Amino acid sequence: MCGIIGYIGKNVKKNLIEGLERLEYRGYDSAGMVIQYNNNFIVRKTVGSVDNLKENVKDIEFDGVGIAHTRWATHGKISLENCHPHFSFKNEICLVHNGIIENFEKLKEKLVKKGIKFYGETDSEVVAKILGENLSLKKIKKLFSLLEGSFSIVSISKNKKELFFAKYKSPLYIAFKEKSMMVASDPSCFFGKFNKYLTIDDGEYGKISLNGIEVYNQDSQMVEKKVSKIKTKELADDKNKFKYYMLKEINESKSIIDNIIERYKQSQLIFRLKSLNIKNFNRIYLVGCGTAYHAGLVGQMYFKEMLEKDIFVCKASEFIFEKNILDNKSLCFFISQSGETADTITALKFAKNRGAKTIAIVNAEYSTITRIADDFFPICAGLEKAVASTKAYLAQCIIFYILAKSFKNEDFISNLITFKGKLSLGNNSLIKRLASYLSYKDKVFFIGRGIDYITSLEAALKLKEITYIYAFAECSGELKHGTLALIEKEIPVIVVATDKKTFAKVLNNAYEVKARGGKLILITSIAINKEIKDNFDFIIKIRRCDEKFLPIQSIIILQKLAYFTAVKMGLNPDMPRNLAKSVTVE
Ligand code: AGP
Ligand code: GLU
Repeated sequence: MCGIIGYIGKNVKKNLIEGLERLEYRGYDSAGMVIQYNNNFIVRKTVGSVDNLKENVKDIEFDGVGIAHTRWATHGKISLENCHPHFSFKNEICLVHNGIIENFEKLKEKLVKKGIKFYGETDSEVVAKILGENLSLKKIKKLFSLLEGSFSIVSISKNKKELFFAKYKSPLYIAFKEKSMMVASDPSCFFGKFNKYLTIDDGEYGKISLNGIEVYNQDSQMVEKKVSKIKTKELADDKNKFKYYMLKEINESKSIIDNIIERYKQSQLIFRLKSLNIKNFNRIYLVGCGTAYHAGLVGQMYFKEMLEKDIFVCKASEFIFEKNILDNKSLCFFISQSGETADTITALKFAKNRGAKTIAIVNAEYSTITRIADDFFPICAGLEKAVASTKAYLAQCIIFYILAKSFKNEDFISNLITFKGKLSLGNNSLIKRLASYLSYKDKVFFIGRGIDYITSLEAALKLKEITYIYAFAECSGELKHGTLALIEKEIPVIVVATDKKTFAKVLNNAYEVKARGGKLILITSIAINKEIKDNFDFIIKIRRCDEKFLPIQSIIILQKLAYFTAVKMGLNPDMPRNLAKSVTVE
């Protein structure tokens, strides 16, 4: 899920760097830039974040044309040799690539036999070698018949002020105005610079210059592209007073509920909700990855309470390999914050090809998943920059609540307004105290039953992905069937208990842990007596609310717990190692 960008116009370096800063959520293993100058290339590459590259390009600022890249490595270690942009054999052209070329070894073998030498290990370098020493639309088009896998590519030569591009499965957008053009993986690069952009579709390729934009389809016909407008509000992403985006985004929880209420009052969305006509379907699938998958589990809980239907939650990366019955009686929801997750896109296409009705539950409304699905419901969370998804999870859960209520023709607005009024962002000093304790631990367990187990799964994902602590979620009733063997003295076990129906049994499971030396931490909205209090080493009370919204109230506290633990450990919670915000490779 690298980020790629090309620019023609004034102050090329400045515009490329500012674009890379908006793309860095897609990966930050290395960053590189090539600017055309005097019929030659100025090349700068660094391992690590865009900030490192910024240090390395202070001396260059020209008008003209250039390309840049921020990498999340899929093929080839993190090194300068594998840092994009990549060059043709004689260095006459270079390119940046987002995606995976699945047949790159075979292609590379043929090129090596012809005497072509490679300097790196990436699949992307093979594409540059295939393009050879001069760029043409014909050669760009040929890539579609040669390459297998996914690719968005932008390429330049030494002597022409043109950007060539090709797009298949990975995202690509082009912004334009009279004296400058930009092509990038995400329209957020255009914010503050352009207000109009085009979305490039699979199989399209072309050329960009100050004379205009040429987009062609696979029949080599020029394509008339719809012009989209940048909605400034949706892309505003300054950190304000926060040190990291993650805490800013957790603190936006209340405003997101306002956004959702505003948006779902609109007749267009109410009409779309009603036209879903749940009676036409006998199977419902909720499909997503990571946090989006966990939101699907919450959605399943809501739907099960409202509908007498078979409801399945699937990990997108497993979906096409499972024996799912998919036909026109299947209603499939694809959940994705970025709308660009390759696993989810593949699952969506798989379901669509089998006649299922496909609905996207997305944050990025201009994304690939939104475009491919039969319809979509926006989660209205605004731009989410931190790699760890927080506000999007809250919003996805709320959208599933709205869907479940609308299936039963029940009002949801008043309940949401009441919930928002009660929503608490928690007691930071208490959460920080617990975070400080956890920051010295290398293993943490989360346990709960039912909806609290789902919250435990999401809380464990948050903690592990930004602190690198081995965080593990277990259904508390399952502990004694094996996992209890892992409990040893002083190991912290966070007990998530907001459901009155299961509270007594969860307490029993917690005491089984205590009996073996575990440190008990209770996260609960339920009134507890002195005996219970005395059994726990740390207690955080969750503000009581409509039980339907308890998973949302409790996850906010646990998101903050993960955040403060990471900060206490001196880590950057926005950009954890090895990860990226949008995983556009499978
Ligand atoms: C969540 O904190 C992770 N960043 C990751 O699990 C993420 O939820 C997953 O990659 C799905 O992303 P999407 O919602 O953009 O499809
Ligand atoms: N496969 C290319 C590389 O490893 C691009 C990776 C990506 O798009 O994440 O450099």
